[in-house]
Amino acid sequence: MMIARKILFLSLVLAFLSSCQQEESSEIMTNSPSGNLRLSFSIESGKVVYKVLHKGEEVIKPSSFSFDFKDVPSFGKGLKVVDFHKDNFTESWEMPWGEQHWVDNTYNELLINLEDKKGRQLDVRFKVYDDGIGFRYEFPKWEGVDSLTILDENTEFNLTGDHTTWWIPGDWDIYEHLYSETSFTEIDATSKRNHPNLGQTYIPENAVNTPVTMKTSDGLYLSFHEANLTDYAGMTFKVNKRKLSMTSELVGSDRLGYKVKRAMPFNTPWRTLQVSEEAGGLIESNLIVNLNEPQKVVDISWFTPMKYVGIWWEMHVGVSSWDLASGKHGATTENTKRYIDFAAENGIGGVLVEGWNTGWERWIGFEDREGVFDFVTPYRDYNLKEVVQYGKDKGVEIIMHHETSAAPRTYDQKLDSAYSLMNELGIHTVKTGYVGKIIPKGEYHHGQWMVNHYRRVVEKGIEKQVAINAHEPIKDTGLRRTYPNIISREGLRGQEFNAWALDGGNPADHLPIVAFTRMLAGPIDFTPGVFDIKLSTQPEDDYPNQINTTLAQQLALYVVIYSPIQMACDLPQNYKGQPAFQFIKDVGVDWEQSRVLDGEVGDFVTIAREERGTGNWFVGSITNEEAREITINFDFLEEGKSYRATIYSDAEDTHWNDNPTAIEISEISLKKGDEKQFNLAPGGGLAISLIQTES
Ligand code: NOJ
Ligand code: CA
Repeated sequence: MMIARKILFLSLVLAFLSSCQQEESSEIMTNSPSGNLRLSFSIESGKVVYKVLHKGEEVIKPSSFSFDFKDVPSFGKGLKVVDFHKDNFTESWEMPWGEQHWVDNTYNELLINLEDKKGRQLDVRFKVYDDGIGFRYEFPKWEGVDSLTILDENTEFNLTGDHTTWWIPGDWDIYEHLYSETSFTEIDATSKRNHPNLGQTYIPENAVNTPVTMKTSDGLYLSFHEANLTDYAGMTFKVNKRKLSMTSELVGSDRLGYKVKRAMPFNTPWRTLQVSEEAGGLIESNLIVNLNEPQKVVDISWFTPMKYVGIWWEMHVGVSSWDLASGKHGATTENTKRYIDFAAENGIGGVLVEGWNTGWERWIGFEDREGVFDFVTPYRDYNLKEVVQYGKDKGVEIIMHHETSAAPRTYDQKLDSAYSLMNELGIHTVKTGYVGKIIPKGEYHHGQWMVNHYRRVVEKGIEKQVAINAHEPIKDTGLRRTYPNIISREGLRGQEFNAWALDGGNPADHLPIVAFTRMLAGPIDFTPGVFDIKLSTQPEDDYPNQINTTLAQQLALYVVIYSPIQMACDLPQNYKGQPAFQFIKDVGVDWEQSRVLDGEVGDFVTIAREERGTGNWFVGSITNEEAREITINFDFLEEGKSYRATIYSDAEDTHWNDNPTAIEISEISLKKGDEKQFNLAPGGGLAISLIQTES
């Protein structure tokens, strides 16, 4: 009896010890190719613990993850490492269009195979780059479980301090917020709920949207985002001030009562962290595109990067309107021809026409918006075929416009006919829009249901050779690598806010923050190029707004803000006789390489880009409300070549408010290694074109 008890006791102890052993694992580590970043993974008390180190110092403190499901027990406790694999990878892939021609994709990989006490497995795949890390969860098949309904994904990022943070609120419906610069513990997203202009906004808690960028007290820059958002909900981050921690909060569906539903097996999007010792390194990083699948469509030759003008700004400043009933319809055949003529005269490739189709009388402010737009029927004063032909004769492409008014079910129904029409007419670009609360109620722009809608549109675009520029989109997660017809998108407070925002438009520090936050996600249809800075063309009694930058900064934006389609958004008459317009005519839209020469988040940024195929370089620099002297070393120019540099700079007395249009244009000759100083005015900028001359 005694012996039997002892044996029982001993075997219990042994069982306890072996279960402890399973619940602890030694550290598994992977370094980035240069060794500057290190990922460490272990199991402690049955839970995952991962951390990230930069040059031996923690940048992410021990952090964990778990998942909560409907009708299925949570996953994240009682885990053990069954197996793990290390690997490395290198390639250079070609961008069909982009900030650069070739992208280096070199990383070390760690795949961890986990199992919980119920025998359920999950793989976590880490890719460790020199410029950051990405990891995703790979769910295999689980016995007896066909699909998982995710109520919460709890991926933790524990911070090492109260970092300075540039953030927008974790809005489930729109990203069109101003960025705030606060310490992490001062993030107060719910105070952003009552924006005077945003009808579609839902900020359930103190969370932020991504990319969210931080600077540590050691001067290290971090940015958190996600890559390859496919058949999943967009991710925001809940702010835990006490723990100095962020936890993923997926955008949900109130209608369906969950965050994500997926058939097993499936992979989640990548959770990403970019790390850089210099602010500009964040912009130069290719982590987000690299974490996407290689290009699916081989032939994208039907899309060419271009500049465009359009019947657009005139609506936003109140000169004309989208709807016919207003009596000041902008999208007429005649007006479109005027824009086509202007484009043709100035070497501009496209003309966007908004308000061309019937339905705009029931657009904004209407509850029932299903079936309002059919996307094929023009208003009676707009002859679609005639303008398309007129454009073709002059080498100018019409850019289609589809405002869905956030009725995606209608758009889904009409997709085939609408895209077939474009295909027949040889229209290869569409700007889409999703203004308003999503119908059906309870869905949000950034939830799984909409993520899948936006993807169907892209796939239809591939089928019909149409490139997509979405407004009120889902955020960019680098999918342009896989689907190069995803050319640009809004997903931020664009230029339009300067026309009508009741809070005074975009302040001067907006874009110097955007360059280090939103722009890390991908191309931006910001629509720069307002020359009538004070909006004198705006009818009286309208909003007393203006653009809060100098004219030189409007030019600089063509280089600073990346997009393969760049609008010259002002009214054609505002460009007439303006010498500064020459820069817009000259500037490239497709790049061989890009260099961030200098910058500080929220203060200023200077970027140089080499145009593909010409060897010409363009430089753009923008500053916030502070004047600044910058030094540019032209060592990026090609050895042995001479360049004719045309410099568009703020004048001595230029000021974004007092004297925004004062600009100095000068021409000099420059070569590699030359160094020059330039002055930027408050809210100012600098634009330089460097055209190769014979050496
Ligand atoms: C919002 C878009 O951002 C804007 O560019 C467009 O003009 C309107 N929706 C109408 O579609
Ligand atoms: Ca918008």
